[in-house]
Amino acid sequence: MTLIFVPKEAGDQETRVAGTPETVKKYVAEGFSVSVESGAGEKSNFSDEVYQGAGATIGTTADWERSDLVLTVTGPSEQNAARMKQGAILIGLLTPHRRSDLVRKLRDGRVSSLAMELVPRISRAQSMDALSSQASIGGYKAVLLAASRLGKYFPLLMTAAGTIKPARVVVMGAGVAGLQAIATAKRLGSIVEVSDIRPAVKEQVESLGGKFIELPMEESGEGAGGYAKEMGEDFLRKQREIVARHVSAADVVITTAQIPGRKAPTLVTEEMVKAMRKGAVIVDLAVDSGGNCEISEPEREIERHGVHILGYSNLPATVPEDASTLYSRNVYSLLGLVKTKEGGLTLNLEDEVIDSTLLTHDGVVRHAPTAALLEGQR
Ligand code: NAI
Repeated sequence: MTLIFVPKEAGDQETRVAGTPETVKKYVAEGFSVSVESGAGEKSNFSDEVYQGAGATIGTTADWERSDLVLTVTGPSEQNAARMKQGAILIGLLTPHRRSDLVRKLRDGRVSSLAMELVPRISRAQSMDALSSQASIGGYKAVLLAASRLGKYFPLLMTAAGTIKPARVVVMGAGVAGLQAIATAKRLGSIVEVSDIRPAVKEQVESLGGKFIELPMEESGEGAGGYAKEMGEDFLRKQREIVARHVSAADVVITTAQIPGRKAPTLVTEEMVKAMRKGAVIVDLAVDSGGNCEISEPEREIERHGVHILGYSNLPATVPEDASTLYSRNVYSLLGLVKTKEGGLTLNLEDEVIDSTLLTHDGVVRHAPTAALLEGQR
């Protein structure tokens, strides 16, 4: 019988799990054997007993060696990757651009790895899009963190002691995380202003009740695949000049602006931070790719020039129950292309989604940018 393993995530920081009782129950009903490592769901509030109730057996790390399919959130340690059997399938957000040693282990161990961040952003694969499901949680949580740090209310309040003005929030980058940040900040009653360089975004921002900050676009900021393209330093300087006025009047600035495969653009300089009001809050969600705020620090909360600056790259892990639920459904959906009716597994390389997502297979690194990166490191 095909064995699916849901291990505990590597590292103490990760709170999510790649299989929830909901998806485990479905795999079991489809004829798969599922082993969940003891405690794997604990930080997401899923106990071993609930997994057993869903039909799983409670496993140990020895299952790395005998499983046909291993489901992870952020990928295994290199040691565990090396324990996987040849031809087994691994799923996870594997960050291949950062984890060359892991990619080599998977290639040399002839593990077929599916990197969730490589799922193409096409309509058919929307239900498999873990980047979106997790980014949305990040945008939501960024607003809640900002609201709890701010020494002010978010909504307009008319009280017996007089009126309180609503907080002013500026969101930079209105992709998946930014749009959820806008929606959340609006629900809390603040005034929201938004900067982005892709023209398609304006309508989405306005439909959520945000005010779009117009920029002097000589060319569209939209590049391949609907993502943003890298803008020149001249444009970014002009953009900073324009948004500076909004930033200096803001109570909260949430930055999510990213360019795939490049350093995140600098949108808030230290000078701009100095001009902000005391007690204002910046949450920089792009901190992992270099940061949108010049002085934010990865995984830290600092105070500079009277402004709280929060740089967090893994906010989805702070909402582990729902983050795991959505991620596990993304994985389940992707596996819909891999499972066979007979309870087996097959990788159809002719399928566009599998073809794009398959990072290593049969001893080869199939993702060209990762293969080039490894080649360059030799
Ligand atoms: P992302 O995380 O790469 O970037 C976030 C945002 O930053 C983007 O909106 C980008 O335009 C913006 N940005 C870049 N440079 C900027 C600058 N200088 N100033 C202000 N903003 C800047 O993007 P994310 O959230 O992963 O997705 C972006 C787009 O990808 C979506 O809006 C959509 O078009 C596409 N997408 C398609 C999906 C599908 O069809 N299944 C699912 C999800 C996203």
